[in-house]
Amino acid sequence: MTPFPPNPPPVSLRAFRPSDVPFVASIVAEALHEHYDPSLYASLSTEWPDGFLVAADPHEVPIGFLLGVSQVEREARVLMFAVERHHRTLGVGTLLMDAFLERCRLRAFQRVTLEVRVSNATAIRFYTRYRFSVIDLLRAYYSDGENGYQMAVELR
Ligand SMILES: CC(C)(COP(=O)(O)OP(=O)(O)OC[C@H]1O[C@@H](n2cnc3c(N)ncnc32)[C@H](O)[C@@H]1OP(=O)(O)O)[C@@H](O)C(=O)NCCC(=O)NCCS
Repeated sequence: MTPFPPNPPPVSLRAFRPSDVPFVASIVAEALHEHYDPSLYASLSTEWPDGFLVAADPHEVPIGFLLGVSQVEREARVLMFAVERHHRTLGVGTLLMDAFLERCRLRAFQRVTLEVRVSNATAIRFYTRYRFSVIDLLRAYYSDGENGYQMAVELR
Protein backbone atom coordinates (compact mmCIF):
# COMPACT_ATOMS: atom_id res chain seq x y z
CA MET A 1 0.00 0.00 0.00
CA THR A 2 1.23 3.54 -0.69
CA PRO A 3 2.99 5.37 2.16
CA PHE A 4 1.65 8.73 3.27
CA PRO A 5 3.84 11.54 1.92
CA PRO A 6 5.15 14.13 2.49
CA ASN A 7 6.19 13.56 6.12
CA PRO A 8 6.63 9.88 6.88
CA PRO A 9 7.83 9.40 10.48
CA PRO A 10 11.53 8.58 10.98
CA VAL A 11 10.84 4.95 11.68
CA SER A 12 12.88 1.89 10.85
CA LEU A 13 11.57 -1.63 10.60
CA ARG A 14 13.63 -4.43 12.03
CA ALA A 15 13.40 -7.86 13.58
CA PHE A 16 12.37 -8.29 17.20
CA ARG A 17 15.23 -8.45 19.73
CA PRO A 18 15.03 -9.81 23.29
CA SER A 19 15.90 -6.31 24.57
CA ASP A 20 12.62 -5.06 23.02
CA VAL A 21 10.51 -7.03 25.50
CA PRO A 22 9.87 -4.24 28.07
CA PHE A 23 8.85 -1.80 25.31
CA VAL A 24 6.67 -4.31 23.49
CA ALA A 25 5.06 -5.38 26.78
CA SER A 26 4.29 -1.76 27.60
CA ILE A 27 2.65 -1.20 24.18
CA VAL A 28 0.63 -4.39 24.69
CA ALA A 29 -0.53 -3.25 28.13
CA GLU A 30 -1.60 0.17 26.91
CA ALA A 31 -3.00 -0.72 23.49
CA LEU A 32 -4.33 -4.23 23.96
CA HIS A 33 -4.91 -4.23 27.75
CA GLU A 34 -3.12 -7.56 28.07
CA HIS A 35 -0.25 -8.66 30.29
CA TYR A 36 1.73 -11.68 29.17
CA ASP A 37 4.68 -13.45 30.71
CA PRO A 38 7.75 -11.68 29.22
CA SER A 39 9.15 -15.02 28.04
CA LEU A 40 6.18 -15.38 25.65
CA TYR A 41 7.57 -12.85 23.17
CA ALA A 42 10.92 -14.56 22.73
CA SER A 43 9.35 -17.99 22.48
CA LEU A 44 6.82 -16.86 19.86
CA SER A 45 9.60 -15.27 17.82
CA THR A 46 11.66 -18.43 17.47
CA GLU A 47 9.54 -20.38 14.98
CA TRP A 48 9.27 -17.59 12.40
CA PRO A 49 11.60 -14.70 13.39
CA ASP A 50 10.71 -12.72 10.24
CA GLY A 51 7.07 -12.72 11.33
CA PHE A 52 7.85 -10.54 14.36
CA LEU A 53 8.40 -7.02 13.06
CA VAL A 54 9.30 -4.03 15.18
CA ALA A 55 8.98 -0.37 14.17
CA ALA A 56 11.65 1.60 16.03
CA ASP A 57 12.25 5.32 16.49
CA PRO A 58 15.67 6.89 15.72
CA HIS A 59 16.85 5.86 19.21
CA GLU A 60 16.00 2.23 18.40
CA VAL A 61 13.07 2.31 20.81
CA PRO A 62 10.11 0.22 19.63
CA ILE A 63 7.01 2.33 18.91
CA GLY A 64 4.98 -0.43 17.30
CA PHE A 65 5.14 -4.07 16.36
CA LEU A 66 3.37 -6.84 14.52
CA LEU A 67 3.72 -10.39 15.77
CA GLY A 68 2.69 -13.00 13.24
CA VAL A 69 2.86 -16.76 13.51
CA SER A 70 2.24 -19.62 11.13
CA GLN A 71 0.38 -22.47 12.78
CA VAL A 72 -1.46 -23.71 9.69
CA GLU A 73 0.28 -24.70 6.47
CA ARG A 74 0.45 -21.85 3.94
CA GLU A 75 -1.22 -19.50 6.42
CA ALA A 76 -0.10 -16.73 8.72
CA ARG A 77 -1.98 -15.37 11.70
CA VAL A 78 -1.50 -11.92 13.18
CA LEU A 79 -1.34 -12.62 16.91
CA MET A 80 -0.62 -9.09 18.09
CA PHE A 81 -0.44 -5.76 16.30
CA ALA A 82 -0.19 -2.36 17.96
CA VAL A 83 1.37 1.06 17.64
CA GLU A 84 2.15 3.18 20.67
CA ARG A 85 -0.67 5.70 21.24
CA HIS A 86 1.29 8.87 20.44
CA HIS A 87 2.57 7.45 17.17
CA ARG A 88 -0.75 6.39 15.64
CA THR A 89 -2.25 7.66 12.36
CA LEU A 90 1.21 8.53 11.07
CA GLY A 91 1.57 5.51 8.84
CA VAL A 92 3.52 3.25 11.23
CA GLY A 93 0.83 0.57 11.23
CA THR A 94 0.75 0.68 7.44
CA LEU A 95 4.54 0.25 7.30
CA LEU A 96 4.30 -2.79 9.55
CA MET A 97 1.38 -4.40 7.73
CA ASP A 98 2.87 -3.76 4.27
CA ALA A 99 6.16 -5.38 5.32
CA PHE A 100 4.39 -8.29 7.00
CA LEU A 101 2.21 -9.08 3.99
CA GLU A 102 5.29 -8.89 1.76
CA ARG A 103 7.02 -11.48 3.95
CA CYS A 104 3.94 -13.67 3.80
CA ARG A 105 3.98 -13.49 0.01
CA LEU A 106 7.69 -14.36 -0.06
CA ARG A 107 6.84 -17.49 1.95
CA ALA A 108 4.06 -18.24 -0.55
CA PHE A 109 1.40 -18.08 2.14
CA GLN A 110 -2.09 -18.13 0.70
CA ARG A 111 -4.00 -16.55 3.53
CA VAL A 112 -3.56 -14.31 6.55
CA THR A 113 -6.01 -14.41 9.45
CA LEU A 114 -6.47 -12.38 12.62
CA GLU A 115 -8.92 -11.76 15.42
CA VAL A 116 -10.26 -8.38 16.46
CA ARG A 117 -12.75 -7.12 19.05
CA VAL A 118 -16.12 -6.32 17.46
CA SER A 119 -15.94 -2.88 19.11
CA ASN A 120 -12.53 -2.04 17.60
CA ALA A 121 -13.81 0.04 14.70
CA THR A 122 -10.40 1.66 14.09
CA ALA A 123 -8.63 -1.66 13.59
CA ILE A 124 -11.50 -3.15 11.57
CA ARG A 125 -11.39 -0.16 9.21
CA PHE A 126 -7.61 -0.50 8.94
CA TYR A 127 -7.87 -4.23 8.09
CA THR A 128 -10.71 -3.63 5.63
CA ARG A 129 -8.40 -1.27 3.75
CA TYR A 130 -6.15 -4.31 3.27
CA ARG A 131 -9.14 -6.31 2.02
CA PHE A 132 -9.43 -8.43 5.14
CA SER A 133 -13.04 -9.52 5.54
CA VAL A 134 -14.97 -11.05 8.44
CA ILE A 135 -15.15 -14.83 8.14
CA ASP A 136 -16.47 -15.75 11.58
CA LEU A 137 -18.02 -14.34 14.75
CA LEU A 138 -16.16 -15.63 17.82
CA ARG A 139 -18.56 -15.50 20.74
CA ALA A 140 -17.06 -14.37 24.08
CA TYR A 141 -13.62 -14.69 22.52
CA TYR A 142 -11.98 -12.17 24.85
CA SER A 143 -11.42 -12.66 28.57
CA ASP A 144 -13.89 -9.87 29.41
CA GLY A 145 -16.61 -11.65 27.41
CA GLU A 146 -16.53 -9.44 24.32
CA ASN A 147 -17.16 -11.10 20.95
CA GLY A 148 -14.45 -11.13 18.33
CA TYR A 149 -14.41 -11.25 14.57
CA GLN A 150 -12.08 -13.55 12.76
CA MET A 151 -10.93 -11.77 9.62
CA ALA A 152 -8.93 -13.12 6.67
CA VAL A 153 -7.36 -11.98 3.44
CA GLU A 154 -6.39 -14.24 0.54
CA LEU A 155 -2.95 -13.42 -0.84
CA ARG A 156 -2.15 -13.55 -4.49
C1 LIG B 1 -4.65 -0.51 14.44
C2 LIG B 1 -3.33 0.25 14.62
C3 LIG B 1 -2.21 -0.74 14.84
C4 LIG B 1 -3.05 1.10 13.36
O1 LIG B 1 -1.78 1.71 13.54
P1 LIG B 1 -1.47 3.18 12.96
O2 LIG B 1 -0.02 3.41 13.09
O3 LIG B 1 -2.37 4.18 13.57
O4 LIG B 1 -1.85 2.94 11.43
P2 LIG B 1 -1.67 3.98 10.22
O5 LIG B 1 -1.22 5.30 10.74
O6 LIG B 1 -0.81 3.34 9.21
O7 LIG B 1 -3.13 4.05 9.65
C5 LIG B 1 -4.20 4.48 10.49
C6 LIG B 1 -5.12 5.42 9.72
O8 LIG B 1 -4.49 6.68 9.61
C7 LIG B 1 -4.44 7.08 8.24
N1 LIG B 1 -3.16 7.76 8.06
C8 LIG B 1 -1.95 7.25 8.27
N2 LIG B 1 -1.01 8.19 8.03
C9 LIG B 1 -1.68 9.32 7.68
C10 LIG B 1 -1.26 10.62 7.33
N3 LIG B 1 0.01 10.98 7.29
N4 LIG B 1 -2.20 11.51 7.04
C11 LIG B 1 -3.50 11.16 7.08
N5 LIG B 1 -3.94 9.94 7.40
C12 LIG B 1 -3.04 9.04 7.70
C13 LIG B 1 -4.50 5.81 7.46
O9 LIG B 1 -5.08 6.01 6.19
C14 LIG B 1 -5.38 4.95 8.32
O10 LIG B 1 -6.73 5.16 8.01
P3 LIG B 1 -7.76 3.93 8.07
O11 LIG B 1 -7.71 3.40 9.47
O12 LIG B 1 -9.03 4.55 7.70
O13 LIG B 1 -7.27 2.91 7.10
C15 LIG B 1 -3.43 1.26 15.81
O14 LIG B 1 -4.62 2.00 15.70
C16 LIG B 1 -3.38 0.59 17.19
O15 LIG B 1 -2.32 0.31 17.71
N6 LIG B 1 -4.56 0.40 17.81
C17 LIG B 1 -4.64 -0.16 19.16
C18 LIG B 1 -4.28 -1.61 19.16
C19 LIG B 1 -5.20 -2.39 18.25
O16 LIG B 1 -6.39 -2.16 18.20
N7 LIG B 1 -4.59 -3.35 17.54
C20 LIG B 1 -5.33 -4.24 16.68
C21 LIG B 1 -5.86 -5.36 17.51
S1 LIG B 1 -6.60 -6.61 16.49
